[in-house]
Amino acid sequence: MSRLALVLATANPDKVAEITAILSTSESLELLARPAEVEEVEETGATLVENAGLKARALCVATGKAAVADDTGLEVDALGGAPGVYSARFAGEGATYADNVVKLLGELAALADEGGERRARFTTVALVTFPDGQEVWAQGNVEGRITAEPRGTGGFGYDPVFAPDEGDGRTFAEMSIEEKHACSHRGRAFRALAKVLAERPTDRM
Ligand code: IMP
Repeated sequence: MSRLALVLATANPDKVAEITAILSTSESLELLARPAEVEEVEETGATLVENAGLKARALCVATGKAAVADDTGLEVDALGGAPGVYSARFAGEGATYADNVVKLLGELAALADEGGERRARFTTVALVTFPDGQEVWAQGNVEGRITAEPRGTGGFGYDPVFAPDEGDGRTFAEMSIEEKHACSHRGRAFRALAKVLAERPTDRM
């Protein structure tokens, strides 16, 4: 079977590592490294689909090859769905993962860690742009809650304060990477994307 080669449009090394691991079992997809000379794409879209599209399109145009992007947001019910599409810069432009976690816990400090007030979900949109302008995307979600304190050293971003409902109370940062991928937003989005791509007519590859 011929494999569909996709240029990785994400510049975030943590996301690159996860996407590579999730798709490593796919026999129909091959990932190509993001050319270092392509500038980072500004995420000016209002939705995850728009931002993923901006990134994938930029790398597709730069390389002439199909490109795949991931855009992810954390929605916290008590914050009206924030940080959402602004998850990367919740604590301001150039914020670190730790800055964003501190800001999130600060905003939730007044709320009890029970009764659903700390309910949250991660959503990932995984999107491919083809050189002919066609686009295909899939979404993955995971429901959970924001913990009172950071726990664990694995993962990245908000992982130390996100405990998925499907687990045993541990945060993503306390799980093995395989456990995270089995139920994570990114695992679900990329497995769904691989399925949609595998079912496409081959003349689109
Ligand atoms: P992006 O806009 O898709 O690059 O990601 C937004 C932000 O969400 C990142 O900077 C991280 O802080 C956070 N994030 C993305 N994916 C994950 C994840 O799998 N776990 C925890 N945080 C994540």
